[in-house]
Amino acid sequence: MHPREHGVRLPGAYLHPKDPRLAPFFHNVTVERAISKQFAFLSDLLSGERHYFGLQPFNAHHWMIISDELFDYREAIFDGCVQRQGVPEHLHRRWRALHEQFRREIVKSAARGILMDGVERVHHGFSLEVIEVATVCDGCFSEMVEGSRGRMHPRTGQLYCGACAARPAILAASDPAAP
Ligand code: HEM
Repeated sequence: MHPREHGVRLPGAYLHPKDPRLAPFFHNVTVERAISKQFAFLSDLLSGERHYFGLQPFNAHHWMIISDELFDYREAIFDGCVQRQGVPEHLHRRWRALHEQFRREIVKSAARGILMDGVERVHHGFSLEVIEVATVCDGCFSEMVEGSRGRMHPRTGQLYCGACAARPAILAASDPAAP
């Protein structure tokens, strides 16, 4: 089955960046990016084609602390959407089963590293950087002049000036899984 054949445009996946419980994970991710990645990933699984070049679920969600309950919550949103779209029940069940295959890769109680060539690489904390080309702080948007120091978030690449680096609230906003 190809999703488009049934006029279903993966509505649950489209919704989750806007849901209040799921939105914090999508900080710094555009809705368009989330839609196109999900669409490409699931349509490959459903059609057997190979057009998806994004991350596989373990690495895509490695830093996200997602409980079984939150996973079920997201599934319930998805269920509601496909039901409203009139997806036949037997296809609906197959779709759910597909998502279930990824539960054990996505649900976890602590952040994981990225798996590369079978080795898990974990990046903790922030790296200290000396600014070589003047830029703007991703926290407060003030100028970071050449030669000043900043702290870089290893996953997002966001750079913070000395003042922002001391403000946990700003840093936490860039990483909802941070303790
Ligand atoms: C509560 C459950 C889930 C949450 C909170 C969640 C959250 C996210 C977020 C925030 C991203 C964007 C990552 C980025 O662009 O850096 C993402 C990407 C993605 N998710 Fe999920 N997701 C969930 C469940 C699932 C499930 C069940 C699947 C598969 C069936 C899935 C497949 C994907 C894929 C394929 C990507 C794109 C990876 C890439 O960026 O290359 N997600 N997810």
